[in-house]
Amino acid sequence: MQPRRCCLLLHLHLLLYLLLLSGTQADLEGTFTIRLLQTSIFQNTSFVDTEGLGLLEDIELGSLDKHTWTIRFYQPWVRPALPRGDWDTIENMIKIYLQKFNHLINKGAMQKDVPYPFVAQCMAGCEVYPNRTSRAFAYVGYNGQDFLSFNMDNATWLLSQDTNLSQYVQAVLQNYTAFSELVEVLFNDTCVDDIEMLLHYGKAALERQEPPVATVFARMPKPDQLLLVCRVTGFYPRPISVAWLQDGQEVLPGPALNTSAILPNADLTYQLRSILAVAPHDGHSYACRVRHRSLGTRSLLIPWGNSEEVVLIAGLGAGLLAAVALAVISALWVWRHRKHQQMEESESRNSILSKEA
Ligand SMILES: *[C@@H]1O[C@H](CO)[C@@H](O)[C@H](O)[C@H]1NC(C)=O
Ligand SMILES: *[C@@H]1O[C@H](CO)[C@@H](O)[C@H](O)[C@H]1NC(C)=O
Ligand SMILES: *[C@@H]1O[C@H](CO)[C@@H](O)[C@H](O)[C@H]1NC(C)=O
Ligand SMILES: *[C@@H]1O[C@H](CO)[C@@H](O)[C@H](O)[C@H]1NC(C)=O
Ligand SMILES: *[C@@H]1O[C@H](CO)[C@@H](O)[C@H](O)[C@H]1NC(C)=O
Ligand SMILES: *[C@@H]1O[C@H](CO)[C@@H](O)[C@H](O)[C@H]1NC(C)=O
Ligand SMILES: *[C@@H]1O[C@H](CO)[C@@H](O)[C@H](O)[C@H]1NC(C)=O
Repeated sequence: MQPRRCCLLLHLHLLLYLLLLSGTQADLEGTFTIRLLQTSIFQNTSFVDTEGLGLLEDIELGSLDKHTWTIRFYQPWVRPALPRGDWDTIENMIKIYLQKFNHLINKGAMQKDVPYPFVAQCMAGCEVYPNRTSRAFAYVGYNGQDFLSFNMDNATWLLSQDTNLSQYVQAVLQNYTAFSELVEVLFNDTCVDDIEMLLHYGKAALERQEPPVATVFARMPKPDQLLLVCRVTGFYPRPISVAWLQDGQEVLPGPALNTSAILPNADLTYQLRSILAVAPHDGHSYACRVRHRSLGTRSLLIPWGNSEEVVLIAGLGAGLLAAVALAVISALWVWRHRKHQQMEESESRNSILSKEA
């Protein structure tokens, strides 16, 4: 833990800063965050494993090759944003920084009898709000725990844990005013412009939309309990709304409802599941409702216990859904009649897409 530990992040950030020079406008709305992450595993005094990663929202911009300390680009739009010579300069700065970083950390670790192996992590970045103001942040971690954070308002390092080691590192960091000034300039002052530049180059990646695919099935762990499972996957971006409807009414949060965290898939889409516990044959109708940006104002509605019919309903109100579900169960001809009149085929299996008022 030494003063320059975050400089990798600053150097990486410098390239974002350089992107500014060509000046463009962004036209994306919302709050956006840039994060630069460094993880260094100190195996012993002569062996350090280093990882570096740059993120815009959840999109990986690039990483450091741990053997050569060169930048690997993950997005085709990041590298062309700078001339080759600038990338060479940045890579050289990173290499020099990492050498110094490792040297200083090992020196400090020996001075304070820090046992090996240990992990040092640093995260720095900023977020820009729709009103074009920004908030910058920098955190230092030690062995997976919060260690120090940088307060942008008064340019001081705050202890996240009060130990001899954290106090020592705080003192070392605080001594380097040049470092604090760099953090301020790069993250606090230029964040808005930086992010706007990246939003311009990465517009297509940030606007990418993948519609959710939802399936509903049931499990019966006990004879008197039926678990209705709504599995939703393959969607991007991350924000989503998944609810259970009982007779067309949204089931409110409670002990019967259990919705998982949103988990990543390997292809930068997300998944989650929502489980509703009901009594078997309780006479109610149930449906899983999914709302997502990719669906616009429509919702995905997957009734439980219905046929494998695949239907797209346009202009169907939420209240009508239960009626439709009942109609499907009781009389298939009603279903077919409606379908011929006003429905189209959809690709989504076992689902009803409805436009809600
Ligand atoms: C340091 O750790 C590396 C990797 O675990 C190992 O190969 C090397 O022998 C160690 N060196 C010393 C001096 O302990
Ligand atoms: C801008 O938006 C952020 C987040 O909503 C808010 O905290 C901040 O106070 C706003 N700033 C101004 C100047 O409106
Ligand atoms: C960071 O920016 C905010 C808002 O522009 C400002 O109020 C604050 O003083 C700045 N902090 C530093 C350390 O410059
Ligand atoms: C900086 O601000 C933080 C939070 O407001 C406060 O806890 C800390 O004491 C301040 N440090 C200095 C040196 O003023
Ligand atoms: C912190 O350092 C002081 C003085 O060097 C020592 O007495 C104390 O035991 C240390 N505390 C911890 C938690 O290591
Ligand atoms: C910080 O700087 C002061 C004055 O230059 C020096 O006495 C002190 O030892 C330094 N502290 C650390 C932890 O480097
Ligand atoms: C929700 O589901 C998870 C995983 O199936 C389970 O561990 C947890 O206990 C459940 N919570 C409730 C409140 O039922």
